[in-house]
Amino acid sequence: MWGGRFLSKPDQIMQAINVSIDFDKKLATHDIAGSKTHADMLAKQNIITQSDNKAIQSGLDDILKEIDGGTFPYRAEFEDIHLNIEARLGELIGTAAGRLHTARSRNDQVATDFKLWVRDALEGSCALLRDLQKSLLDRAAENTDTLMPGFTHLQIAQPVVFAHHLLAYVEMFSRDISRFENCRDRLNESPLGAAALAGTPYPIDRDMTAKSLGFSRPMANSLDAVSARDFALEALSCASICAVHLSRLAEEIVLWTSPGFNFIRLSDKFTTGSSIMPQKRNPDAAELVRAKLGSITGNFVALSMVMKGLPLAYSKDMQEDKQPVFAAFEALELCLCAMSGMTADMQPNKQAMATAAGSAYSTATDLADWLVRVLDIPFRDAHHATGAIVALAEGQGKPLYELPLADMQTIQPKITKAVFDVLSPENSCASRTSYGGTAPDNVRGQVQRWQKILAKQG
Ligand code: ARG
Repeated sequence: MWGGRFLSKPDQIMQAINVSIDFDKKLATHDIAGSKTHADMLAKQNIITQSDNKAIQSGLDDILKEIDGGTFPYRAEFEDIHLNIEARLGELIGTAAGRLHTARSRNDQVATDFKLWVRDALEGSCALLRDLQKSLLDRAAENTDTLMPGFTHLQIAQPVVFAHHLLAYVEMFSRDISRFENCRDRLNESPLGAAALAGTPYPIDRDMTAKSLGFSRPMANSLDAVSARDFALEALSCASICAVHLSRLAEEIVLWTSPGFNFIRLSDKFTTGSSIMPQKRNPDAAELVRAKLGSITGNFVALSMVMKGLPLAYSKDMQEDKQPVFAAFEALELCLCAMSGMTADMQPNKQAMATAAGSAYSTATDLADWLVRVLDIPFRDAHHATGAIVALAEGQGKPLYELPLADMQTIQPKITKAVFDVLSPENSCASRTSYGGTAPDNVRGQVQRWQKILAKQG
């Protein structure tokens, strides 16, 4: 492509380090979309003839068919996807192909292609996140009365209902969606027409190409247009935060399926056996979702390091922007699908969850609150008395609701049998009616709210 200035071929090692076709072939369809738009604009502006544009359009359509049909010849000698497509166009339509690259450079071309790819990836991730929300919501709707222990420090703290726990993730994932949407809106300005770095003397119409590629407007500064990769960094940071959320849910699935908890069961679809221990059912998919955060966040760090300290405008370093983004979104999509699958698959073991919900003096706070509300004891004193009652129950090896009233009265004589109304995990949950609390009626309201939101999104 630049033979005019060069007398000999590149060294083999030069080619080996320079070539990117193996990974940037993923941009093929976006590159063709950009080129078709660019050629239409050149023709409309009388920069190329209508007949050259016609030849270019039909040649690019044929190339798209080759790409879709798996017959396109990707060749390392043409370095990257942009030069591969241009070279192939030359083979198919002859000299008109040489007019396509008028008033553009690979610098604005690759920035445009890459933005289009990232935009698709963000939209794809949002769709998968919505599927996951639906799957969580279905399980939540079935479990608004299913008791489970809520934890702090992974110690049983207070009873909650399972739906409340699942809806916490629906909330988290909705913030992930809004981060992706925000990132998409911010990236949606077109670099095309910035040319190499300084713009071009041809009378191009950047509004036309921006609009036809679905961008809101052209980027206002040509140097920025070819140098900016913060859209990719931002997409990776959003992916990374989403992967953090996925890893937390994955970890809970690992815990819940372990015999020590036995809160849920995953079917054979989402577990694997052990080659040596016949009794094992391992939650490998959940463990791998937990682990993928490592490479997703690693890719965010990788691209940050590639971009760090790069002077304006384009540097070849920026060719290394693609693999981290491709790899991160491939992993994220897989994780989202696996998580939707596991959520749909899991069967709660309601008995074990309810037993755990009532264990470890999980209603001690309810007892303290009862002392405050009914006996008008200051909370700190109530807390102290409750601690003593828990110690008493512990000494007898009983849960609070089985401790005889007379024993409680040795600590606080004014306690009456009405206290037993708040000591069961059911009543504890039912009492937490504050906005955002776990009372089943509240939670049913939240399930309905989410069902409406997700139904609207289709
Ligand atoms: N393959 C290159 C990349 O991905 C395309 C841009 C090349 N531009 C250049 N001036 N060498 O960044």
